[in-house]
Amino acid sequence: MSKPNIHPVPEAFKAQTLMDRDTYDRLYAQSINDPDSFWADRANEFLDWKTPWDTVSDWDFKEGRAAWFKGATLNVCYNCVDRHLPERANQTAIIWEGDEPDQDKHISYQELFEEVSKFGNVLKDRGVKKGDRVVIYMPMIPEAAYAMLACARIGAIHSVVFGGFSPEALKDRINDAGACAVITADEGVRGGKTVPLKINADKAMTGIDTVHTCITVKRTGGDVNWHGDRDVWYHEAIASASAECEPEWVEAEDALFTLYTSGSTGKPKGVVHTSAGYLLSAALTHKYVFDYHEGDIYWCTADVGWITGHSYIVYGPLANGATTLMFEGVPTYPDASRCWQVVDKHKVNIFYTAPTAIRALMGLGNEPVTKTSRATLKLLGTVGEPINPEAWEWYYKVVGESRCPIVDTWWQTETGAIMIAPLPGAVDLKPGSATLPMFGIEPVLMDPDGNELEGATSGNLAIKSSWPSQIRSVYGDHQRMIDTYFSAYKGYYFTGDGARRDEDGYFWITGRVDDVLNVSGHRLGTAEIESALVLHPSISEAAVVGYQHDVKGQGVYAYVSLMAGKEGSDELVKELRDLVTQEIGPIAKPDLIHFAPGLPKTRSGKIMRRILRKIAANELDSLGDTSTLADPGVVDQLIETRLNK
Ligand code: PRX
Repeated sequence: MSKPNIHPVPEAFKAQTLMDRDTYDRLYAQSINDPDSFWADRANEFLDWKTPWDTVSDWDFKEGRAAWFKGATLNVCYNCVDRHLPERANQTAIIWEGDEPDQDKHISYQELFEEVSKFGNVLKDRGVKKGDRVVIYMPMIPEAAYAMLACARIGAIHSVVFGGFSPEALKDRINDAGACAVITADEGVRGGKTVPLKINADKAMTGIDTVHTCITVKRTGGDVNWHGDRDVWYHEAIASASAECEPEWVEAEDALFTLYTSGSTGKPKGVVHTSAGYLLSAALTHKYVFDYHEGDIYWCTADVGWITGHSYIVYGPLANGATTLMFEGVPTYPDASRCWQVVDKHKVNIFYTAPTAIRALMGLGNEPVTKTSRATLKLLGTVGEPINPEAWEWYYKVVGESRCPIVDTWWQTETGAIMIAPLPGAVDLKPGSATLPMFGIEPVLMDPDGNELEGATSGNLAIKSSWPSQIRSVYGDHQRMIDTYFSAYKGYYFTGDGARRDEDGYFWITGRVDDVLNVSGHRLGTAEIESALVLHPSISEAAVVGYQHDVKGQGVYAYVSLMAGKEGSDELVKELRDLVTQEIGPIAKPDLIHFAPGLPKTRSGKIMRRILRKIAANELDSLGDTSTLADPGVVDQLIETRLNK
């Protein structure tokens, strides 16, 4: 392995940082040695509570059980909005930048308060109560944040579904959540194209009798269907709503939201996050990882449909009284300078995006970047997948002009908040490494027998002790959470990722060790894509693996076996790709579809994905032992016909 290029904290950055190395070391040690007193102090510092807690933490990973701040009550919306009013009523809470460069809006904390309170009342008027589930299927418009906060205000549990998911995928999530209301928009706009969200939502809601209300925000004025009793226009409903809506004081451990994410088996899981612990971790990490100073303009490019949008567009920044930028569009529309033009236009100081976007922009050359100023930028961040050192160096030198540290943040939907990342004023950077753990996080590397590994080595990444924003349950199937995260290594949370730790204790995430793909930073289960493919009448069997892709990180390689008498064709490839788009969404569309005469199986009928991964990666000399296969000849046929040559 070549030696990494170490980038020390730039002197100018060091001079203004919130947290230097000594402070990080001291606080980290305290957070591990005396977690309850560490978190009690932070809970008082970061959040406002209605009533205090009885116990700070109460957990047992052998049972997969965790609770934080039991006995306390608070309201998440109050913490993100109301309590800032005395100091920040006129400060911008949300800068909205539309898909077209001439569209933007500044929403002050006072306006946010009024919008959210009215929306809360609209939900209450429609009979939505504490504990009810509300699905939010929205484009990146301020109303998406209002909807989330309005749910939090009245104690309803939101479940945001990414606007790029298909009606089928939305239907599954509405059903699983047993949602009583859906909030959507007539259409979304991205990169100059419209997405028919209301039409999709109508299809998804067909045949579901739990949904009594669908609230639609008018974004484009595009055509929609209307269902009299169920459907409500947002603008009409809030016109008469009162801006006084007392927050519902909820228990610390009451659910704040569920968010569906893919695993290695079965349908996506509704990850349950609770109120107090989640908000505390989101706020603390937002402040220290992004070195957030009063007045900074902060921009996270994620979509609110993903956990990154929850924690680092909405909850973390707003809990800290920050100004958060919400972008409706895509980095390449109208052209490849868009991100940097937005940075200049709104004087953005902190910019947080995904490696896939960085790689795509890097492929379009330096000029779209260098023709902009970017003088306001002081910190850059990445999330969602491993970043290759080449893309890291480009981001550092070309975008950040070697002035801005890069925080490579490793975390997951299930962790709720950033787990491993450099505190930028404290930790020297190594391109490709997420570096060191956050306060209270104890990452360990495990060997296959479930022993912790010491020193510089590689292994499966697990977490040894609880942290406030950890997953509490899988909605409707608590046992599934225990089986998925707390069974591989008794007494540990298993992440599903592999990692290496170097001689400085830095972590290098190597990627998933299970059947989960990471395509453009989006998490996809191979089983979900396979289930979609086999719906086609010509397909008898499918096996999906990932392969290295220059821009997406991983591409989707699908092996499909045909029914007797059927033949592969370009037409069928198209039908299969369309089918996956229809069942899941365009993000899951296979890049390569290989009509396989047979799939390699053990004698007990289990598909040997390890071999399929090697064939897709063209690593033909490391296929391993194929003699145990039911029909070893299948492998030769697959090699001969393999794609991705
Ligand atoms: O494999 C890891 C990868 O993304 C997975 C989590 O995906 P999701 O729940 O969708 O959340 C993404 C945003 C937090 C992880 O198991 N991952 C996330 N961040 C990084 C990463 N891999 C390497 N480096 C990262 N910084």
